[in-house]
Amino acid sequence: MKGFLKGKRLGIFGKGGAGKSTVTVLLANALAARGYGVIVLDADSTNEGIHRALGLQRAPRPLLDHFGGMVFSGGAVTCPVDDPTPLPGADISLREIGSKYYAVSANGVVVFSAGKVSTMGAGAGCDGPVSKIVRDVRITGLVPEPITLIDFKAGFEDVARGVITSVDIALVVVDPSVAALMMAVRMKHTVELMKAGQRPATGHLDNPQLVDFANRLFREARIQDVRVILNRVNGAPTESYLRRELLKERIEPIGVLPENHRIAEAWLKGNSLTVENIGLGGVVDALEAMNTMHREIDAAQPTTQSFIEKEPTNDKRTGYTRPQ
Ligand SMILES: Nc1ncnc2c1ncn2[C@@H]1O[C@H](COP(=O)(O)OP(=O)(O)OP(=O)(O)O)[C@@H](O)[C@H]1O
Ligand SMILES: [Mg+2]
Repeated sequence: MKGFLKGKRLGIFGKGGAGKSTVTVLLANALAARGYGVIVLDADSTNEGIHRALGLQRAPRPLLDHFGGMVFSGGAVTCPVDDPTPLPGADISLREIGSKYYAVSANGVVVFSAGKVSTMGAGAGCDGPVSKIVRDVRITGLVPEPITLIDFKAGFEDVARGVITSVDIALVVVDPSVAALMMAVRMKHTVELMKAGQRPATGHLDNPQLVDFANRLFREARIQDVRVILNRVNGAPTESYLRRELLKERIEPIGVLPENHRIAEAWLKGNSLTVENIGLGGVVDALEAMNTMHREIDAAQPTTQSFIEKEPTNDKRTGYTRPQ
């Protein structure tokens, strides 16, 4: 167990059906086997089965209920695009929140669900409030400080809503399809632009304080890196093709999962996803190795770039005072 990964938030992204939930579960198990504390946050409002793949009988109650429901159906949680301000009470401990909002697997992985829209009925809302919960919620007081794996909904929407600002490392799952390759490339470019200082769209915000806050979120974004994991690879020619295409964008995958009928069967039957000889231990090695890589990059940069002037803060995490 290495210190670098503790407290990190890893977002698992990818096109629909690429294998995000599969990678989340296998990586959670691989990290737990190495002694890490692991939280899985189910951020996919359309997801139904991840708790079963983690070997759990029941799904945790969605955090959206704890935070008072979404604004679109009369609740408290707003959409981060219309209202980028922080989610009130986002730092929560297991003791405070109560056991109905989480479940713990046999290997100690703590599982949360951000919110489900499928239970709300037609016309009841949208995914924005779920995204805000995913962006802001922090589980405090766990020792060792856990790694949080966030199983995102398919596509780019959560990135576009700015949720990526609170993710340290984005893992993109690439299945053998051009759409999945494009997603990896887009994610890499998006993060490069953010790190180069790109600001979010704020044309729809008429309150200057909100504009300032949206900009600050991006300026202080945690996102450091994008990494790629190949999934459903059915042979050497497919793997070589995917690697060649990614290399054109200077992307080197950190893990490869084969096409495996036992993975498909576990999802079909709602069984726990433990497949002998298939795991993501190598991905844990690669993630731990990022520690040294970052140090080398830091050492190569002029020291002045390590100091970012912080504006005076009111909110303990974000420096934001909500407009009255
Ligand atoms: N390595 C694999 N071998 C065989 N089948 C796989 C593999 N990975 C995923 N699958 C199949 O693809 C389906 C989708 O996988 P998974 O749910 O992990 O993808 P996802 O990206 O989370 O999908 P969604 O976009 O719906 O959230 C699974 O139900 C399973 O049948
Ligand atoms: Mg999924």
